[in-house]
Amino acid sequence: MPCMFQPDLLLNKRILITGGGTGLGKAAARRFLELGAEVYICGRREEVLSATKQELAERTGGRIHARRCDVRDAAAVEEMIGVIWADGPLDVLMNNAAGNFLARTEDLSLGAFQSVIGIVLMGSLHATLACGRRWLAAKRPAVVLNVTTTYTNTGSAYVVPSAVAKAGVQALTRSLAVEWGDRCIRMNAIAPGPIPTEGAFSRLLPRPELEQAAKDRNPLGRFGTPEEFANLAAFLVSDGSGYINGEVVTMDGGEWLQGAGEFSVLGRQLTNDEWERMKPGKPGKNS
Ligand code: COA
Repeated sequence: MPCMFQPDLLLNKRILITGGGTGLGKAAARRFLELGAEVYICGRREEVLSATKQELAERTGGRIHARRCDVRDAAAVEEMIGVIWADGPLDVLMNNAAGNFLARTEDLSLGAFQSVIGIVLMGSLHATLACGRRWLAAKRPAVVLNVTTTYTNTGSAYVVPSAVAKAGVQALTRSLAVEWGDRCIRMNAIAPGPIPTEGAFSRLLPRPELEQAAKDRNPLGRFGTPEEFANLAAFLVSDGSGYINGEVVTMDGGEWLQGAGEFSVLGRQLTNDEWERMKPGKPGKNS
């Protein structure tokens, strides 16, 4: 698919993507580099970061830096942001680092909750505060893009630490969009639905037939792609979307609406004959 943006859309923008070594963060890093940005990625695994840095530098010819950092550690995040700022201020922070696992909530240890909430909620907070305080002190416009999920409003069984943490990130997004908006800091979020990436997806859909069931219940009949996610991310961090603030953009093919609509499921349960019989002038299904 040809690139939908002008090639210099993000020229010289300096962007940090947490969890940028893999999955959706890596896809966004690639797109940002292709559009002229200078990209910093961080994550917990040095070897993964180095491999991604090398791969994306070769593919795009762009400027990419990688640094090991566990976003749960506030001091480590502060140190990383200080090192980045020594080269120059960031223009964009993308809080993408996440952790999740399928489990019955009663089986989870406190450590399991702390791990996911630490990465998703506290990690986003650490990076946002470290960058935000610098932007505010320098009166510098900037953009934060958070990655949430489609179950922030509804909650979801079996991923409770993630649901709790992502709901917090959504609240952070909307709160700071207002509090910092008057200082020209925009804050938005993407709520992605099912998008296959290495690692995360196999953990969340452990059997192949569950993947097909997930596609079947999606109105578009397919999963999203990392490239579609990256395109939306590029749009939201670009100056052209400058009046979008405090927004959570859902990209899930309509999956959550399909689940929410009381009668939506009937499309797959009623036969053609039954639809025909419900038309005006036809005998009703109970007649
Ligand atoms: N089910 C239940 N509990 C689990 C678990 C699972 N599948 N995996 C880990 N835990 C618990 C551990 O038992 C531990 O709790 P304890 O200290 O009370 O024993 C706690 O979570 C931390 O586990 P640890 O092995 O130290 O992992 P971590 O904190 O280094 O990393 C993740 C946790 C979730 C980040 C890790 O599993 C991971 O890297 N996942 C891949 C990335 C990912 O999930 N992305 C999702 C994007 S949606």
